[in-house]
Amino acid sequence: MIVYLDGDFLRQEEAKISVADRGFIFGDGIYEVIRVVNGNFFREKEHLDRLKEGLEGLKIDFDPSEKAKIPEVSRELLKKNNQLTGEATVYLQITRGAAWPRTHTFPEPTVKPTLYISTDTFIPHTELHEKGVDVITLSDVRWKRCNLKTIQLLPNILAKQKAAEAGVNSAVMIRDGVITESPNANIFAVRDGVLYTFPASNYILNGITRQTVIELADKLQIPLKETPIREEELYDLDELFFTGTTTDIQPIIEINGRRLADGKPGQVVKKIRKAYNERMYG
Ligand code: PDD
Repeated sequence: MIVYLDGDFLRQEEAKISVADRGFIFGDGIYEVIRVVNGNFFREKEHLDRLKEGLEGLKIDFDPSEKAKIPEVSRELLKKNNQLTGEATVYLQITRGAAWPRTHTFPEPTVKPTLYISTDTFIPHTELHEKGVDVITLSDVRWKRCNLKTIQLLPNILAKQKAAEAGVNSAVMIRDGVITESPNANIFAVRDGVLYTFPASNYILNGITRQTVIELADKLQIPLKETPIREEELYDLDELFFTGTTTDIQPIIEINGRRLADGKPGQVVKKIRKAYNERMYG
């Protein structure tokens, strides 16, 4: 496995970052995960735009000419790893860079941010998409800037681990009585033929898959409201599903041990999944 670190293509075992890197010390950085099908990047521009927003949000001063090289470098990396055919993912991470001594304020003078890129082969979770998954509800204890895709993922990790220990696939997170998202995906609900999802704001990551589903809903003439779903409405919904780059379109059929509707993926999620797959693989 070859990875890219600050200008060099290296074997994964040889790629090393400084112990002073602020990503390591503070979790001071951002990331992206992009799907690739036969060398085609799915919604690359949207991912790179969000990366830019993240850099601005964290005030990381990343050289625009370095950023411009990311698409080419990612393709070169996929090539080196023989991943230009079939399915793959690209992981991009930028941290504020290595700075010593450890101080919470930004390094003065500014240091060069660290750019890390890795790729991996990918197998879609087709069986889960067809059968649907079970979830538990958990409190969303994250900070109030969830729109930034930062590498600080502890609340997400702990939530996902809690779900795993409860023997279920994932968690539906609740803040102030409404459903926000899952630790690694956005959530849509269906009630009386209308799609509902939490509005794009600082309380969720505005997923690229979420944005794609909103576009597809419009095309399919499925009415959509960016209105949060209340916790007490959960069990009365007709359908509920996750959306995400590695999750794809994943129906939820059981919440806290209670079956949702008839316990099978519904018609709306099936329609959306079909349209999404056509968009990705078409
Ligand atoms: N996670 N919400 C959260 C908290 C996420 O971490 C993700 C993606 C999403 C979906 O966003 P998108 O559709 O752009 O992938 C929503 C990535 C895949 C991850 O952490 O691996």
